[in-house]
Amino acid sequence: MAVTIGVPGAEPAVLFIHGFPLDRALWRHQTSALPGWRCVAPDLRGAGESSAPADRHAYTMARYAEDLVALLDDLRLRETVACGLSMGGYVLFELLRRHAPRIRAAIFCNTKAEADSDEAKRGRDAMIQLAETGGAAAVAEAMLPKMLAPATHALRPDVVREVRTMIARAPVPGIVGALHALRERPDSTATLPTIRVPALVVAGSDDQITPASGMRALAARIPAARFVEIADAGHLTPLEQPARLNEALREFLKAVG
Ligand code: MLT
Repeated sequence: MAVTIGVPGAEPAVLFIHGFPLDRALWRHQTSALPGWRCVAPDLRGAGESSAPADRHAYTMARYAEDLVALLDDLRLRETVACGLSMGGYVLFELLRRHAPRIRAAIFCNTKAEADSDEAKRGRDAMIQLAETGGAAAVAEAMLPKMLAPATHALRPDVVREVRTMIARAPVPGIVGALHALRERPDSTATLPTIRVPALVVAGSDDQITPASGMRALAARIPAARFVEIADAGHLTPLEQPARLNEALREFLKAVG
């Protein structure tokens, strides 16, 4: 598993879990911006520079979660603040269900608790076909319009380019595996009221994939959650509005450190 570790030796730690079809570079503005925290940002299996099993059944939210726990064990981190974006949030739900004592606090960015609808599952099937025929570059072109805020598309060609490049370098077996895992993931709405640790829920004001209104409702179902909406952010808040997100993270971490 490929992993970026900021400030080695510092504790406690924040574990950053990227979304689909991205890699750990999603968090490049965060991993060196949280003084006193050891930031751990891995590539999930099949993403970035981690190995990508060919069998799509090797990818589930549970498998991703177990990989992360193995990483925490290797790093001798008994507990961590876990921060997941979108699919990373789905993995975080799995961590909370399976390994609650390892999670000191939870940060949900641009995510949701519901499972895929039938229509969404058909969309996953179509995307699998697109990945297999057109490769990662075709997936990038299909996904980019909805991933970023209008302001990002209009004013930040560098961010658009960075996201396009990140998706285009994703291994196709990892994309297909992740789509399979997304399609089959469990509904996590019943998990929300069981979350007993402090939580931060971060929405992007212009997120078309996981809208801010849904995230506000998600936060309302977690007993100790703070909700923050970041202006001019689409689905990829860490890259679109890093300074605003980092401020929200530092504020939250001060309270749970
Ligand atoms: C992600 O960003 O991880 C994906 O948009 C998640 C999804 O499609 O459900």
